[in-house]
Amino acid sequence: MLKQSNRAAWLKGGDACCNLQPQMLAHPYRLVLLGAPGVGKGTQAELLSKKLGACQLSTGDIFRAAKSSSDCDRTPAMTRALDCMKRGELVSDDMVLALVEERARCFRCGGGFLLDGFPRTVKQAEALEKLLTALATPLDAVLSYDLPLEQIVARLSGRRTCMNCKSVYHIETRPPHIAGACDHCGGDLVQREDDRPESVHVRMAAYAESTAPLTDFYRQRNLLVPITADGMPEEIFKRTLKALKIKRAASSAPVPA
Ligand code: AP5
Repeated sequence: MLKQSNRAAWLKGGDACCNLQPQMLAHPYRLVLLGAPGVGKGTQAELLSKKLGACQLSTGDIFRAAKSSSDCDRTPAMTRALDCMKRGELVSDDMVLALVEERARCFRCGGGFLLDGFPRTVKQAEALEKLLTALATPLDAVLSYDLPLEQIVARLSGRRTCMNCKSVYHIETRPPHIAGACDHCGGDLVQREDDRPESVHVRMAAYAESTAPLTDFYRQRNLLVPITADGMPEEIFKRTLKALKIKRAASSAPVPA
């Protein structure tokens, strides 16, 4: 297992630095994780992060971290973004892009990165492509997870998230060792507001309209790696590593052990 950073630079933005420095890898992985809300992107990103040493960068986590900050520390744009999220709607592209650009140094990290929840629209994907080209840190692959709707809804209704370190659990399929407490840091586990059935419906509709077209965008760039998200997290993780090995074998960089 590789050493992870604590994502402070990503979650706080601005001048914040991570307390734990990631390893400098000769061939770091730079990946995007695509898929409907609740398909398991965050769960796979956490497993991949431990294996590959790349940091999990989730735009949803930025919004949720902002939510637990005090009102006076919040910008008006962040407040508007939080209101959208509570209703299950997509936050505007310009607002998200401004937040991501503030954190562009994370894209130059020597450990690589795993983008989870960004990009979410074609406009965001085009802006990311431009930014990564300017930084000379191109993507290796885009992992696209797929699962039938009824299984996704079951995953979302049982999800619990650590208030402190953002680790993700499921009350039936991935329970913590002690009910209500995070295995990693002991933090309280809570249900996300946007996992209520009425918000889930709006999130699915927004995904179908705005995010699903990204599969074509990345297929055209020969970056898309489709992965079936059925089965236990560890099975999907093995499937992901196998697909990544095949993808990397097609390039000149070495494959993971
Ligand atoms: P975000 O946090 O990115 O949410 P999301 O994309 O909707 O994805 P989720 O976190 O809900 O699901 P996931 O796929 O990560 O699943 P997880 O691994 O947790 O964004 C939240 C909101 O912020 C958005 O709705 C939007 O409003 C806003 N936002 C964020 N980014 C934005 C952007 N770029 N532009 C505009 N707006 C943006 O798994 C779900 C559950 O299933 C867990 O309980 C887990 O334990 C369980 N599970 C996982 N895998 C399995 C498995 N194999 N078997 C059984 N259970 C499993």
